Amino acid sequence: MSALMEQRAGHLAEDYREMLEVLSAGSVHTHFDPYEDIDWDGPELAVDRTDPRWVLDPEVDPLGAHPWYQAQPLEVQIEIGRRRVANAVKVGAAFESVLIRGLMHYAMTLPNGSPEFRYCMHEMTEECNHIQMFQELVNRIGDDVPGARRRFRTLMPVIGFLAGYLPLLLMIGILGGEEPIDHYQKSLMRTGRSLQPTLARAMQIHIAEEARHISFADAFLRFHLPRRSRLTRGVLTVLFPVTMAVLADEIMRPSFSLFAGTGMPRRVYREALRRGAVHDAILASYFADMRRLCEETGLMTRTGRAMWRRLGISGEPSRFRGEPDRTAELVA
Ligand SMILES: [Fe+2]
Ligand SMILES: [Fe+2]
Repeated sequence: MSALMEQRAGHLAEDYREMLEVLSAGSVHTHFDPYEDIDWDGPELAVDRTDPRWVLDPEVDPLGAHPWYQAQPLEVQIEIGRRRVANAVKVGAAFESVLIRGLMHYAMTLPNGSPEFRYCMHEMTEECNHIQMFQELVNRIGDDVPGARRRFRTLMPVIGFLAGYLPLLLMIGILGGEEPIDHYQKSLMRTGRSLQPTLARAMQIHIAEEARHISFADAFLRFHLPRRSRLTRGVLTVLFPVTMAVLADEIMRPSFSLFAGTGMPRRVYREALRRGAVHDAILASYFADMRRLCEETGLMTRTGRAMWRRLGISGEPSRFRGEPDRTAELVA
């Protein structure tokens, strides 16, 4: 390491610096390329639009758990499920673009020799690959899905730009986007049911790389939060759960127009995807690790806890990172 890098790294606590080095090395040694590592034209990855495996899982997806959905003929369940998955993948790609905008902005403010800079660049490289992988998947599925709802799509560039000035909020936002997607994908894998193979391959690659991104955002917050003023931490106590709820809603709830022609009543859309006991329980289950992070960084104050509850995403914190959902049986 050069003298400059040693000096810069010296400003960061030893264990945080080491963590950044491990993550950077991980990105160098284990990474994927969407076109090298996925055999898009291979016969086993051919996308069948009528594959019954597009049917939504009732344990993982609140729409899949809704009685109206379950009462539909198989073709309708497949049609809705496939559109919903394709749209979620498209939203994932859009979300990655916001993250890249914010992270690029932040990284370019860092001093020479910063180990955070190096890892941010690795992460953005991976996110560019994810966007390509997701878009290719959407193209192959063949539904012309819009992705995020219109307001979010319009605001995306501005959110990314502003978040670059607010790195703590940016990292909270990264977790708010990555945690629900990661949790949804892992829960799907854990159900043990057979998944559409192209989707399964993309998810497998995504989960492997997201583990590093989530570790980085988590370590970033644990390192920087205690070094910020009480006022900043106080504001983040409230903004943390708000960011989680808002982003999870953007990611998990497509526009109603996505289901046009399927006969889905608005009532079903509202009950399954806006608020409701099953919806809230599934959404809350995505954030057990985030509640633990807030507990451990002093952000779960009385005000913070009340906010988590008000937003319908409160619950037990996880006992360890990535612990499978302990409340799953409540919503099954
Ligand atoms: Fe990603
Ligand atoms: Fe990521």
